[in-house]
Amino acid sequence: MTLAGKTVVITGANSGIGLETARALAADGARVVMACRDPSRAAEARDALAASLPGAALELLTLDLASLADVRRAAAELAARHPRIDVLINNAGLFPFSRQLTADGFEMQFGVNHLGHFLLTRLLMPQLRAAGQARVLNVASMMHHLGQLDFGSLRGEQPYGAMKAYAQSKLCNVLFARELARRHGDEGLLAFSLHPGPVGTNIMGRSWLRRTLYRLVGAYMSPRRGARTSIHLAQAAGLEAHNGAYFDEYCKVKPGSARSRDMALAARLWEVSEACVNG
Ligand SMILES: NC(=O)c1ccc[n+]([C@@H]2O[C@H](COP(=O)([O-])OP(=O)(O)OC[C@H]3O[C@@H](n4cnc5c(N)ncnc54)[C@H](OP(=O)(O)O)[C@@H]3O)[C@@H](O)[C@H]2O)c1
Repeated sequence: MTLAGKTVVITGANSGIGLETARALAADGARVVMACRDPSRAAEARDALAASLPGAALELLTLDLASLADVRRAAAELAARHPRIDVLINNAGLFPFSRQLTADGFEMQFGVNHLGHFLLTRLLMPQLRAAGQARVLNVASMMHHLGQLDFGSLRGEQPYGAMKAYAQSKLCNVLFARELARRHGDEGLLAFSLHPGPVGTNIMGRSWLRRTLYRLVGAYMSPRRGARTSIHLAQAAGLEAHNGAYFDEYCKVKPGSARSRDMALAARLWEVSEACVNG
């Protein structure tokens, strides 16, 4: 299904998987809003894309998911620019090695990887509804299999473990997609989560040493290959039967962890997230 003439919003579109997703969807004719935290890195990425795709419809939006106030500002700006949003790709993510807090005092990975996206999605519901059959994609990870939800440490109260926090945030991505589909599927909204594969990107940090080690040890796919499932879920027809599902890097539906299928946990995460963003 072509996305020509459709509006696609991608968070973290200046780098890695998000950048390659933006490239493919813009090449398909979509108007792509690149929602990024650093305006100069975003402009650089947009200029590079524009140079390789003459005539592509690319827009920049400044969005720092580590600040709920900034998420509200960016969502309002987006709503003013676009009454309809056809595809929202919650792609941005980070993996800090030491404990950090967001502007609102949440543990950084929970705050950025999940809570900022939760609020963004909730605020954009009118624009998603206006699109008819809109899609929301959460770029999660197979690491969600290691994830548990510690509702008593969302502000980093317990000792920090980078992988534990990452796995928790990625479990949130999977649960949030399932609950979004459950709550809004009857309005035509499709919501999915996905694992992009192990991909050589900046997620482990920008230093040359870290990136090289990560590529050697854990990551072997190119960002272009790693964007494949995001692109598929944005474009493919006939996904209604899989609403809420988790997909792997080969675009196949996978069950995900038992915890990620616990709909009582998904409902609780939704309620707790509402309280966090309204608190
Ligand atoms: N790479 C893998 O092996 C892998 C595996 C499974 C899942 N994933 C997931 O894939 C997604 C994309 O990651 P990637 O691998 O492509 O890494 P990446 O190249 O580091 O891209 C991450 C993007 O998120 C942005 N970001 C970070 N913090 C943000 C914030 N506070 N507000 C807005 N944007 C923010 C980054 O912006 P800056 O450029 O300004 O830092 C960057 O654009 C993530 O959700 C990650 O968890 C990756």
